[in-house]
Amino acid sequence: MFGAVQLGVLAACVVLFVPMGMAGWHLSRNKMLFFSGALFITLAVGVHLTPYFPSISTFVSSVVVLQNRDSCVSLLHDIVFHVKPLDHFQNFTILGGSWSWSNSAPVVSCDFQKLGRSDASDLLNGSWVVVAGDSQARLFVVSLLGLVFGSEEMDSVRAQLFKRHSDYHIVVDQIGMKLDFVWAPYVTNLTHLMMDFKQENNYPDVLLMGAGLWHMLHVTNSSDYGVSLRLLRNSVVSFLPISPEFGNDGPVTGSVSIRSPHIFWIGMPVLISSMLNTEEKRMKMNDAMWSDYDKELYRSKLLRQSGGPLLSLDIQSLSEKCGKQCTVDGMHYDRIVYEAAIHIMLNALLIESHQKL
Ligand SMILES: *[C@@H]1O[C@H](CO)[C@@H](O)[C@H](O)[C@H]1NC(C)=O
Ligand SMILES: *[C@@H]1O[C@H](CO)[C@@H](O)[C@H](O)[C@H]1NC(C)=O
Ligand SMILES: *[C@@H]1O[C@H](CO)[C@@H](O)[C@H](O)[C@H]1NC(C)=O
Ligand SMILES: *[C@@H]1O[C@H](CO)[C@@H](O)[C@H](O)[C@H]1NC(C)=O
Repeated sequence: MFGAVQLGVLAACVVLFVPMGMAGWHLSRNKMLFFSGALFITLAVGVHLTPYFPSISTFVSSVVVLQNRDSCVSLLHDIVFHVKPLDHFQNFTILGGSWSWSNSAPVVSCDFQKLGRSDASDLLNGSWVVVAGDSQARLFVVSLLGLVFGSEEMDSVRAQLFKRHSDYHIVVDQIGMKLDFVWAPYVTNLTHLMMDFKQENNYPDVLLMGAGLWHMLHVTNSSDYGVSLRLLRNSVVSFLPISPEFGNDGPVTGSVSIRSPHIFWIGMPVLISSMLNTEEKRMKMNDAMWSDYDKELYRSKLLRQSGGPLLSLDIQSLSEKCGKQCTVDGMHYDRIVYEAAIHIMLNALLIESHQKL
């Protein structure tokens, strides 16, 4: 049993260090202040009530709430799609689709939110977001910008972004968000990007990466893909100032003042062989090859579920749930798949920064 003095000291430490830790996360300072204020009041009330109650349940319950939030990360992909064809245009089916989190009890208790334009703007205010990868990453950018922009602005964004195989840079003035899309079809391109960050000593707040399909089509060698993933993992762990709990074999470089970026991996979608648009794709990008590539991803220990630094945005599970009806070429999926992925990412950011809308 804690004495009142020890508990007071503990509470003071929590109030002092938790917000200091969170100061590394510079997005949405107001929410951080709110959180530390709420934490202070909870602890203060808890400490003062302790002499009148035999247990310290107030304090214990606030710790439990934080732990539950972490387990919520694993439920983020528990999503259901509601899709029905609305209309046909030439050979395309126009889908009327929506998605939601499942209504199972554990998911409901996590209280995930679809962020509206203003909440998303608030969360991303002042941040530098980098999305690097292949066409899946590009579709992800379209959905992300679609969330912070109106539809007229999106038309001009789309025209710029879909110039084939080029980088794209935009500053969303209203919220001071800087977004870079880096065309990086191979994992080696991503590793070079890590080196660039290191050289400039400048790291984005949020980094989203993903590559694999180009390698599958043009190199078609899963163990070579695995080699490149391991190099990427090593460069992430040794170059980026990530917190030590994820990288167990890399030094934590830089000073404490360097912010810790939040890094996500945009996974490969399910490929529907029969719908792929060339014979070469249908031959090389088959189910067996896909599964070999996926195994290499796991073995590389790049993702957090295998002990690595990156949080997975599991496009495989999302595209599988949305199904064949959500793709016209067996590879690029309907907007709602990437939109769900955006909201998974935003909720992961909220959880990681212990913010609540
Ligand atoms: C529609 O599909 C048919 C047969 O698959 C094809 O010949 C035709 O060119 C397609 N039309 C368009 C507009 O894509
Ligand atoms: C973004 O933050 C700045 C200052 O930090 C504030 O003045 C501005 O209103 C914020 N914008 C939005 C859209 O939240
Ligand atoms: C990506 O890497 C490949 C193979 O290493 C290289 O040929 C290509 O030029 C790189 N592309 C970009 C955009 O850096
Ligand atoms: C596949 O890649 C590995 C690792 O780079 C290499 O050792 C092997 O020779 C390659 N296999 C083929 C068939 O090219």
